[in-house]
This record gives sequence, C-alpha cells and structure tokens, in this order.
Amino acid sequence: MKLKFNALRPGGRLAVMCLMLPAGMALGAPADVDARRVIAADREPGNWMSHGRTYGEQRFSPLKKVSDANVGQLGLAWSYKLDVDRGVEATPIVVDGVMYTTGARSIVYALDAATGRLLWKHDPKVHGIRLSEGCCDVVNRGVAVWKGKVYLGAYDGRLIALDARNGRKLWETDTVLDHGRSYTITGAPRVVKGRVLIGNGGAEYGVRGYLSAYDADSGKLSWRFYTVPGDPAKPAESKAMEMARATWFGTEYWKQGGGGTVWDAMAYDPELDLLYIGTGNASWWNRKARSDGQGDNLFVSSIVALRPATGEYVWHYQVTPGDMWDYTATQHIILADLPIDGKTRKVLMQAPKNGFFYVLDRQTGELLSAEKYAPATWATHVDMKTGRPVVDEKAANYLEGPKVVSPAFIGAHNWHPMSFNPQTGLVYIPVQETAAMLSATTPATRSPHKSVVNLGVDVPDLPEDPAIVKQISDSFKGKLVAWDPVRQKAAWSQDYRTIYNGGTLSTAGNLVFQGTADGRVVAYAADSGRKLWESPANTGVMAGPVTYEVKGEQYVSFMAGWGGTFPLILGPLSLAAKVKPESRVLTYKLGATGQLPPPRNEAQPLPVPPALTAGPEDLKAGRELFNAYCGGCHGLNAVSGGVIPDLRYLDATRHGQFESIVLHGLRAAKGMPPFASVLSPENATRIHQYLIKRAHDLNTEIGASAKR
Ligand code: HEC
Repeated sequence: MKLKFNALRPGGRLAVMCLMLPAGMALGAPADVDARRVIAADREPGNWMSHGRTYGEQRFSPLKKVSDANVGQLGLAWSYKLDVDRGVEATPIVVDGVMYTTGARSIVYALDAATGRLLWKHDPKVHGIRLSEGCCDVVNRGVAVWKGKVYLGAYDGRLIALDARNGRKLWETDTVLDHGRSYTITGAPRVVKGRVLIGNGGAEYGVRGYLSAYDADSGKLSWRFYTVPGDPAKPAESKAMEMARATWFGTEYWKQGGGGTVWDAMAYDPELDLLYIGTGNASWWNRKARSDGQGDNLFVSSIVALRPATGEYVWHYQVTPGDMWDYTATQHIILADLPIDGKTRKVLMQAPKNGFFYVLDRQTGELLSAEKYAPATWATHVDMKTGRPVVDEKAANYLEGPKVVSPAFIGAHNWHPMSFNPQTGLVYIPVQETAAMLSATTPATRSPHKSVVNLGVDVPDLPEDPAIVKQISDSFKGKLVAWDPVRQKAAWSQDYRTIYNGGTLSTAGNLVFQGTADGRVVAYAADSGRKLWESPANTGVMAGPVTYEVKGEQYVSFMAGWGGTFPLILGPLSLAAKVKPESRVLTYKLGATGQLPPPRNEAQPLPVPPALTAGPEDLKAGRELFNAYCGGCHGLNAVSGGVIPDLRYLDATRHGQFESIVLHGLRAAKGMPPFASVLSPENATRIHQYLIKRAHDLNTEIGASAKR
C-alpha cells in the first residue's frame, strides 16, 4: 500500500489525505485511516506529523543525512524570535515544509520550515487573570495537525481549531467543567480516530482530572473519561468510576477535586486499538486530608489504557498508589517492541517522577520490570509479585513528621520528553537528582484563591542563607541517562550543571540531541554517549527537539526558552543555570553559518531600598505569607529565577503602587493576580516589609562580593 499524507503545503493547498489503495480495496473506516497514518509517518520521515513523531511517541527519526560522522558541521540555518520570554515547552509539528509550533501564552506560529519566515500567527489572547491560575508558568507543549486543521489547547482551557493555511479560527470549545476552579491546558492535543484528545492541569489547586475527546471536524464532545470519582451522592459516570470509588475514603474526598489530571502523556497503538494516558498527582498531596490516610485513590498517578472511540476503560497500572509526594505519571509514554526473556514483547515504557523506570506489557498492563533510574528514597523497590512499590514509611511518610524525600516534587524526570532509539535499544532520559523536605499542615478548606496552591502540605522550606542555598543547589543534579530498558540499567550518562535540561531526540544517524538548562544545544553519539557537537542557545532549552527534511535537506530544530516550575518556584536554586529567558526557535543544518545575537546579560541595577520599619515578628510572618502566596511565581524567599520580576528590585514607583498591584489588580491583565480576597492590607504590608528586608540582604551580599 502506498500512501501520502498531504496535510498542507506552504503554498496553501487544502489538506487532503490521498490514499492510493490496491485495486478492490475500499477506503477504510477511521481505524484504517489511523493505521495508515502511522505507516505514513514511517514512509515520510521527512515530516514530523504528531507530537512524538509517531503514535508510539518514540521521538526517533529515521533521518540520517546528519550523522555521527558529520554532525560537527551543523550550523544555525535560521532562528525565529518568539513574542513572550517565558517558558517554552513545545514540540513543533512539521508537515510538507511548514512548521507549526507554540510559544508561551499559547501563541501559535506557522513558519516556513526551511527559512523560518512567519506564514501566520494566532494569539488566542488568554486573559491575564487566567494566566495567573496555573502552577507552572504559562507554557504550552505544542499543537496537533490533522487534515488541514491545527488544534491548540489554550491556557484558559479552550480547545481551538485553526485553518492550517492561514491560522483563521474554525471553531473553539471550552473544555473546563467548573470555572470556579483553576483548570488550565498546557499539553499538546493528539488526534486519534478523528477525535481530538485533550486533558487539563490544575491538581495543585484542587480540580477533578479528566480526558475529553472532541470530533475533529465539528468540535462536538464525543466522550469524557474521568480519572477520579466525583460526588458519591450522584451516580458514577462509568464502571471505571465505580471501581475507583472503592479506593477513596472519608466522606468528602471529592470536594478537593481529587486531582489525577491528564496534563501531558498520551500514546496510541492502532493495532491493539488502545489509547494510553498518564495521570497526575492527587489533590491534596496530603493523603490524610484527602482520603483519611488510606486507599490507592484510583486513578491518580497511573497509566490507563482506553478505547479511543468510546473512552471505555481497558486496564490500568498505578505507579504510585495513594501518592502523597506529587509523583505524577504524566511523564512521556513510549511504545516499543523489546526482546524480553527470549520473546518479543509489545511494551509501554515510562520514567515517571517517582524515580522508577517501568516496562509494561501494553496489551494487558502486566508489569514486566521496574527499577530505579535515579535516587529514590520513598520506596525500596517494586514487588514483582504484587506489582506494587514497597514504600519506606520511615523515610517518606511525612504525616508522622517532616521528611526529606527523594525525588522532590519536581520529579526524577519531569515533562521533558525522553526518546527511544530502536537501533541502540536505549531510552534517553533527562534525569534529575533532587530531594525536598515535606511536612503536613492542617489543610484548610478548598483554596480560597484561584492563584494559590493548596496542597495540605507546607510549602517546602528553603533557608535564606546563600551558603546553604548553594549547598542544596549543588545537590540538585541534572543528567542525560541512556537507559537500557531490557537490562534495566544505565548504559552511559552525561552530567549537567543543574536540573531541568531539555527533552531528547534520537536519530538513525546514531545521534541524540538535547538542549540544556545552562543554554546550549548538544549532540551525542547515541551508542557511546560521546559529545560530538554543541552550540550556544543564549537561554535555557527545555523542549524536545525535532528533525525533518525540506527539499532533501535535513534540519534539526530546538524550541529555546527558559521558564516553568524550576525558575518560578525554586528561583534561588535555578540561578545555577545562569541563563535569562529569551525565547526562540533555533534550526540547524549542515554547513550553515548563521549567528545568534549575543545573549541578554545586562545586570539589573538594585534601586536603593526604602528603610525597613517592621520588627522581627512581622518579618517572620511576612516571609511565611510571601512563600505561601507569592513564592510560587516570584521564587521562594523572594529570589526570582529571572522569569517573573524579582521583587527585591522594586523601584520607588513600584513601592508606591504596592497595594494597588498586590491587592487590587493593577497588573492583573499582565498575569499578576489581585489578592484582596485573601490578604488584609496589614498582611500585604508585612509581605512588603519582608521584600524590603530581602532587598537590604541583597545589597549586603552585593557589597560583600564586591569586597571579595
Ligand atoms: C501566578 C503567578 C504570580 C503570583 C502567585 C504572584 N505574582 Fe506578582 N507578578 C506576576 C507577574 C507575571 C508579574 C509581572 C506582571 C507585568 O508584567 O507587569 C508580577 C508582578 C508583580 C509586581 C510588580 C513588579 C514590577 O517590577 O513591576 C509586584 C509588586 C508583585 N508582582 C507582587 C506580588 C506579591 C506580593 C505576590 C503575593 C501576594 C505576588 N506578586 C504573587 C505573577 C505572580
């Protein structure tokens, strides 16, 4: 069977799918079309047609004109400056010479993939106040492209279909069930069986997770799969929810939403006709508050297999039963065929936040193996008889008192996609070695403010002392690990300056590409791990790179741009990356000689801080209030990671506007939420005084380092 997926050409021809079928074969049902699309992706390696390139999401490209023999000659072919210098997490889609990608605030760009020329742009104009209702920056992980339409999940929860020729909006639908809660979308939609699939984020604020499927043509809702149960006074939505109910305890478990949001991973096996989704952490993190301290709490932190036409549940595997550490299983899912015990097994692989690498039989959900790919103190091992982790209560149960738990909530691996190279048999994982202290608080009722997370857990405390911060920062280690999934051990690894390094791409040219948190794009030999090429990116690179061909020439493209959880919440630790946000698409080819402008490195002058008037009690309260209400964006202890303003640098005008900005929404349109409903003017003043104190601290530090 020969086929051709002609989504769209730069000239603007309407997308068609020309299927050249053998005589006598009728045009198939949607299932066949999907199977053909998979083959199309393999027959057309020059395109990058869906999020993980193919439905199995291996992020492996058969292209090999750029190889371990010549990768040293890669140069910058073109770059494109994006509008917003905040987190960039998108995987571009490339079809017939056009790149469709997204930047921060859900802005979509269609670019000529050979030159970087802008063809069109679509800004969904997400309102500022909605931009402040997510935990982890105003990021977007990319679009789906299907039959002439481009699908975007906007930050405010809208699913939007655009005309791929010109970016004109064809339809939009609201995926949010309850606007009283902080639902967002950061993930990339997938298209399976003529349906656009999209989940949501928001479990840190208290939401109920679900995945929705919409008709790709009309935008009409086809089905919805809830990942956690709702109000027990109402009938369960599905058999799966009946099953899940039995794993939740207490009478009010559903009130905080339950979590289990489907904010990133999906994969599809057209032969088995199974859709795989990864679900997020529970809401609250505190299991005592959430479910009376018991129960597995299905389907949080799980991999669930569904029928893509109906959303019907088929099987699940829960990686962290009764999760209380924010161990999401939303991390990238890869499908592959692996030789295990002398047989070829159809497997599913995931390296979720909890530090174990899982290999499952993707037909049945049977656990084949699970081993630690990074330090993990919360469990000793996974029991192969029960398929469950053996939790080390003494090390990890913070309901009994504060515990330093590894991995930290930022995960041993986060959303940064991994890749699998069938030629080396290795999975390339952006690994992070981290730990954080957790302690339970008496959880409040539902979070009274849509921009304030409510975990039922104390915000991880970080000392202010710069020497201690440096020590903790040094203990956070970022690595690229080439993992052998059959032997369940590392084949090689590369160390980085800090965590939050980019997703990976592997190619038939025996290469692995990765961007780094410290502002580089790098290529390694896929088999040996030897570094073969690197080039400056001017900023932290987090997204997964792609490769494609235009007119016979191979390109490698990175979405560069710093932001996300690490520089927002853990600002003081993220400064180790030594980069500033500067968002661009960077595209390379052999022999090109393009140059980036020099990186932004202007030092911000520190205005003379006003006199401090508060006493130690008020400053202590101010610090606690700041870390609870503001630290999630502006950085713990008022040390920003440089993506959102560092409040130690406020000038006289801003000091004068402090109440208007903080309580009354003077900057709400820019994503700075108003806090009048939860902060009294007295408490706002305590926070203000704490910021002034931190400005004085910084002044002293600068003075001390000038003397050194
Ligand atoms: C959801 C993220 C978020 C939270 C939470 C948040 N801010 Fe902001 N804040 C922002 C953003 C984004 C801006 C930049 C807005 C702009 O570009 O004008 C900002 C700007 C500001 C500014 C103006 C800074 C300047 O240099 O112009 C002040 C002051 C401020 N925030 C104080 C606070 C305080 C105090 C809190 C806690 C009570 C807080 N913010 C919580 C996102 C946040």
